[in-house]
Amino acid sequence: MDFDLTDEQRMVQETARSFSEKEIKPLASRMDRESLYPGDLVRRLGEMGFMGMCVPPQFGGAGMDLISYVIAMEEIAKAWASLSVIMTVNNSLVCDPILRFGSERLKRKYLPRLTRGELLGCYALTEPGAGSDAGAIQTKAKRDGTDYVLNGTKLFITNGKHSHLALVYAVTDPSRGKKGISAFLVDKTAEGFGVTKLEDKLGLRASDTAELLFEDCRVPAENLLGAEGEGFTITMTTLDGGRIGIAAQAVGIAQACLEEASGYARQRWQFGRPIAEFQAVQWMMAEMAVETDAARLLTHRAAWLRHRGEKVTRQAAMAKLFASETANRAAYKALQIFGGYGYIKESAVERLFRDARITTLYEGTSEIQRLVIARRLMEQGGTAHGAQEKNL
Ligand code: CAA
Repeated sequence: MDFDLTDEQRMVQETARSFSEKEIKPLASRMDRESLYPGDLVRRLGEMGFMGMCVPPQFGGAGMDLISYVIAMEEIAKAWASLSVIMTVNNSLVCDPILRFGSERLKRKYLPRLTRGELLGCYALTEPGAGSDAGAIQTKAKRDGTDYVLNGTKLFITNGKHSHLALVYAVTDPSRGKKGISAFLVDKTAEGFGVTKLEDKLGLRASDTAELLFEDCRVPAENLLGAEGEGFTITMTTLDGGRIGIAAQAVGIAQACLEEASGYARQRWQFGRPIAEFQAVQWMMAEMAVETDAARLLTHRAAWLRHRGEKVTRQAAMAKLFASETANRAAYKALQIFGGYGYIKESAVERLFRDARITTLYEGTSEIQRLVIARRLMEQGGTAHGAQEKNL
């Protein structure tokens, strides 16, 4: 076992860290407060190869490994969670399934431009009646000649407004339940594709969350991703990877909480000394440090296993569950250390506190992660190290 980063991974970390310090941090607070979409920063991430990090060179990417991806995600999220969610959706929920399930034609058509940040993707799974129960979607796709015709509504879609391309899940055969769901790549310019509502959210104020409407929207049959009926497997396999991205985002938020709180505790004096000298504050910081590190290790393990081609449903759910709950605990403690100063809009921890909250909700709530983990344990006779999974 080797915990060292490779030279390439270290370079990615340094690049992401320096970009965050110099270009993201100076803008993040104001733009977040004003809910301004960071289009220029997304383009810059594309130029750096960060919008499709694991896409191989033949499709225009740099072919980096998943550890590099989670390291970059952590650094970007540490500076601004809104920007990191735009990045993770494009990487994990759009580029990755195209790479895994797309035809050669779809890969050539979309991946180079997605990777460069010229195109932005969104992931249209959730519906008004299908959140945790993803298999209950009602959007229909009916074959008509060389096209499919889509009708339905998608809800809470990250990047919904600013994206150029949507990965849309729809029912092609209602008689087959989850095996009647299919996945389509839909161009935003397609007739009958509309953005009908933008959500006003507690956190992630600069990333857009939209409602999408499909009204007799024609999609060429060649834009079917995978085979007809394969949609549920595609969405679950994709979310295994997506959850690793959200875990990395949560690690970034937790790390930011720790750094902000320890910086403040050293310069804030009460009772004649810096509050960092009080045991009550030290213990909070120690707990934040331990949990953030544990979350990072779970996240790196899941990324490493997925990069090797292993099935990581359990490991990804464990990383996402622990990292997202850690981010929320860290945000609570950081705000506690800041006291009243943490509660006002000017403070960095006020934004971290709001942004942390979503991480236990999207890409599967903490309750869904527990369900996924428990089901895998039951399949393996109640042990965490079943015969089908590696001893990791
Ligand atoms: N990989 C591959 N196949 C999988 C799988 C996985 N991880 N998980 C399940 N499957 C397969 C099963 O093997 C099964 O196949 P068979 O029928 O051939 O046996 C089939 O899928 C059905 O599986 P389940 O019976 O387990 O399905 P379920 O209805 O009980 O649902 C669930 C499982 C885990 C609860 C799932 O619905 C789920 O993950 N819900 C959460 C939804 C979610 O995460 N939404 C996120 C929206 S996107 C988002 O949030 C993006 C954003 O904003 C940033």
